[in-house]
This record gives sequence, structure tokens and C-alpha cells, in this order.
Amino acid sequence: MNYHDKIILVTGGGSGIGRAVAQAFAENDGTVVVSGRNREPLEQTVKLIEAAGGRGAAVTADVTSSADLERLLDGIVDRYGRLDVAVNNAGVLATGLTSELAERQWAYMLGVNTTGTFLSMQHEIAAMRVSGGGAIVNIGSNIGAHTRIPGTGGYAASKAAVTALSRTAALEYIHEGIRINVVSPGASDTPMSMLPGETDADRAARLGSQVPIGRVGALEEIASAVLWVASDEASYMVGHDLVIDGGSSA
Ligand SMILES: NC(=O)c1ccc[n+]([C@@H]2O[C@H](COP(=O)([O-])OP(=O)(O)OC[C@H]3O[C@@H](n4cnc5c(N)ncnc54)[C@H](OP(=O)(O)O)[C@@H]3O)[C@@H](O)[C@H]2O)c1
Repeated sequence: MNYHDKIILVTGGGSGIGRAVAQAFAENDGTVVVSGRNREPLEQTVKLIEAAGGRGAAVTADVTSSADLERLLDGIVDRYGRLDVAVNNAGVLATGLTSELAERQWAYMLGVNTTGTFLSMQHEIAAMRVSGGGAIVNIGSNIGAHTRIPGTGGYAASKAAVTALSRTAALEYIHEGIRINVVSPGASDTPMSMLPGETDADRAARLGSQVPIGRVGALEEIASAVLWVASDEASYMVGHDLVIDGGSSA
């Protein structure tokens, strides 16, 4: 896969899966804009990209703010003249049984994961129209549309909604050359896959028995799927939800 001359946006690009995805695009010659709420981790991602010989830029933007997203996407089109790929990866997790989950935690997850993806796509679609098309990859989760785990109902609802929204939007924009798909990771090597108070060793022991493949997913394994889905090699893939979860939802 070669992303030469391609302009890529990765939301939530300052850590975890988003950082790994941004680095992978840059390693494949793409120019990557990373966004998130906090500047320092974004600048750290750009430093890592540039240290490896790639091109990157950091822009702070909260995906729950349409004004932030308008500034972010207008800035990309002003600076680069186009947007080819957007990876909507920004996301948050809070846990709690349905009877106990605080309403503000529910609203926070729906706000960032679902509304954030919706608002991001609105502005990205407008930006992609400038150059006549592009690819959007929304980061879902195996929890929600594919598996159920007690205590994750709010998160599951927010991510199942991402899949439903993405598949509908895929039908709405493919005639404009905008391909929209989902990549749904399972437990991946970031703090989000850890239970409160858990160490790396604790997590390895737990996932060793819970995940059929017997381990947590490496960030590179998620990133390579995202790069393929966004590439011309996946040009006939429209409205798909690609699960990468070591067999958890098989
Ligand atoms: N790790 C897993 O096991 C796993 C499994 C399935 C799916 N996922 C999904 O993969 C994505 C990345 O997760 P991760 O594990 O890499 O978590 P992470 O390291 O916590 O990354 C989440 C990123 O989202 C950004 N973010 C959060 N709220 C935001 C907002 N309102 N506006 C803009 N950016 C925001 C954060 O940056 P700031 O705080 O600086 O804004 C952060 O960089 C999420 O969508 C998550 O649901 C993860």
C-alpha cells in the first residue's frame, strides 16, 4: 500500500490505536494530520512520525464540537487542498452495569463515540467532495455490534450505533466516490482493554483464557487492517464492518 500524495486525518491520534494508525500511514508515505483534545500527545506522535522520515501535523480539536471540526477540516483543505482518508478513532470507555452506569457516563460515551463520529463524518464528507472522493474508516468495536460483555452496555450501544451509522452513510455517499467502512478491534494493547487496577501481566492472563487466539491484539495488527480498508486495494468494500478480535466474536 502506498499513500504517496495522500492526505490522511486520524482523530484521537495522540495515543494507542490512533497513534499506531498515524505512524503506519506515514511509513507508507502518507501525510498525516492527527487531532485530539490535548496538544502534547499529538505533537509527540508527529515527532515519532518525523523521526522515522515521515510527514505529520498536529491540530487540537474535540470531536464533540462541530466548530472545532469545521476549523480542523477547513484547515486541512486550505493547507493541502484535499482530504483523501479520514480515520475516526477518537473514543472513550466507561463501564458499569445498566442499572448503575451514571447518566453522565452514558452521555459522555454517546457524545464522543457516536455523535463525535457523526459530526466528524459531516465535515469530512464536505472536505472529500473538494477532490471528488475519499475513504472514511470509523473505528468501532467488537463489543456492541458483534459481542456482548456485561458492564459495557453504554459503550456497546455507542459503538453499535457507529456501525449502523457508517453502513447507512456508506450507501448515501458511495456514488460520490466516498467509501465508508468500519474496523472493529477486539481487546488491543492499550489501557482501554485493562480492567481497573489490572497490570499487563493480569491482562495477559485474563485474555489468554478469554480470547480464542490467547492474547491481546498488537496495535500494528489493527493499523494494518485500517490501512488496507482505506486503500484502493479495498476499492469494492463499501459499508463493511471488519472485525479484528482474535476470534472473540467468531
Ligand atoms: N483498546 C482496545 O482494546 C479497543 C478495542 C476496541 C475498540 N477500541 C476503540 O479504538 C479507539 C482508540 O482506542 P485506544 O484504545 O487507542 O484508546 P486511547 O489510547 O484512550 O485513545 C483514544 C484517543 O481519543 C482521543 N479522544 C477522546 N475523546 C476525544 C474527543 N472528545 N475529541 C477528540 N479526541 C478525543 C484521546 O485524546 P485526548 O484525550 O487528548 O482528546 C485519545 O488520543 C477508540 O474508538 C476505542 O473505542 C479500542
